[in-house]
Amino acid sequence: MSDTADLVASAQRHLVPVYRQRELILDRGEGSRLWDLDGRDYVDFAGGIAVNALGHADPDLVAALHAQAGKLWHTSNVFYSEPPLRLAEELVAATPFASRVFFCNSGAEANEAAIKLVRRHASDQGRPPERRVIVTFEGSFHGRTLAAVTATAQPKYQHGYEPLPGGFRYGAFNDIDGLDALLGDDVAGVLVEPVQGEGGVVPATPEFLRALRERCDALGALLVFDEIQCGMGRTGTLWAHEADGVVPDVMTVAKALGGGFPIGAMLVGSKVAETLPFGSHGTTFGGNPLAAAVARVALRKLSSREVAGNVGRQSVALQVGLERLGHETGVFTGVRGRGLMLGAVLAPAYAGKAGAILDHAARAGLLVLQAGPDVVRVVPALTITSDEVEDGLARLGEALRAFVAG
Ligand SMILES: Cc1ncc(COP(=O)(O)O)c(C=O)c1O
Repeated sequence: MSDTADLVASAQRHLVPVYRQRELILDRGEGSRLWDLDGRDYVDFAGGIAVNALGHADPDLVAALHAQAGKLWHTSNVFYSEPPLRLAEELVAATPFASRVFFCNSGAEANEAAIKLVRRHASDQGRPPERRVIVTFEGSFHGRTLAAVTATAQPKYQHGYEPLPGGFRYGAFNDIDGLDALLGDDVAGVLVEPVQGEGGVVPATPEFLRALRERCDALGALLVFDEIQCGMGRTGTLWAHEADGVVPDVMTVAKALGGGFPIGAMLVGSKVAETLPFGSHGTTFGGNPLAAAVARVALRKLSSREVAGNVGRQSVALQVGLERLGHETGVFTGVRGRGLMLGAVLAPAYAGKAGAILDHAARAGLLVLQAGPDVVRVVPALTITSDEVEDGLARLGEALRAFVAG
């Protein structure tokens, strides 16, 4: 048996089967290219699900990790170390609404912190538990812990995990007219993605976010933006909400924050900066020096004008290319999204077939994602080059032709 076949067989025996990986073993990467154990190369339009925003093996990230690895790995939050303190300063400086940061390890954990903060804020306002409802939206994705998956208003992620925690209510995304019925005086907070990712790459309209802001203010409720997928420069500004002109009270980030090293964070505005006092929340690894040292470099590089310019250029190239492939093959009806968070929507004849297209893409040497069964999602590194985009589109064309041919 080859090493690949051996390892795939081992994975199938030893891993809890919650994922369905393709039968290849990725071995190394550089920029937006990856190689598997058998030496085959892939163009990376998946970016580790919007994580590897600086591509693979970015020399500055590698240097930061090496330097910190030789100094100090972990202190716990019983003691300070410098990297998370610097990172907190830099995140606050880069984020006009934010005054404090809580560090954790993943997106779900950042949202758990935000959910707890909303509840605690409501408790401090003297609201009884039944008036601490958190509103989220159909098509959302907020993570897999029990509270985050309850916030995730998609039944397929919740099935079998009942009883789910109470105090969540769901509404229709981008439906301003529905807000009066949805947002009563029992609502303590609203959690929303400025661009829905897993739900099909659907941007919130600025008007919708503005209406949420106004209603939250009127109700004394908190507005929480989940920028775990759409933040860190992905839409062309450091935070997606900057372009919408609407400011949250709380924002959650993760994914690209560590450029591939696990880290999450919750940023809070001055109104709720003291809501979680000593002892009210915590996590052993939050603000780990290795993760923070890498994230400082990721934040600096992803905030640069150079990266923002590349996002704009490659976004246009990808949209044009995906639309052209849609016309040529009839597989896509259109492309939506913002910046380098794009979704190609499948034509009705191919509904539900995104997974099959991804299989063809991997065979053609392209790693790409789906967002639900009907959308092919492209969330590459923000540093992807024109050559890599062109090569990836050519491979996608090959995959779509093979898919259509059956
Ligand atoms: C918008 C959003 N929120 C939360 C999460 C959960 O993040 P994690 O998988 O790091 O827990 C994701 C992951 O895809 C996400 O896209």
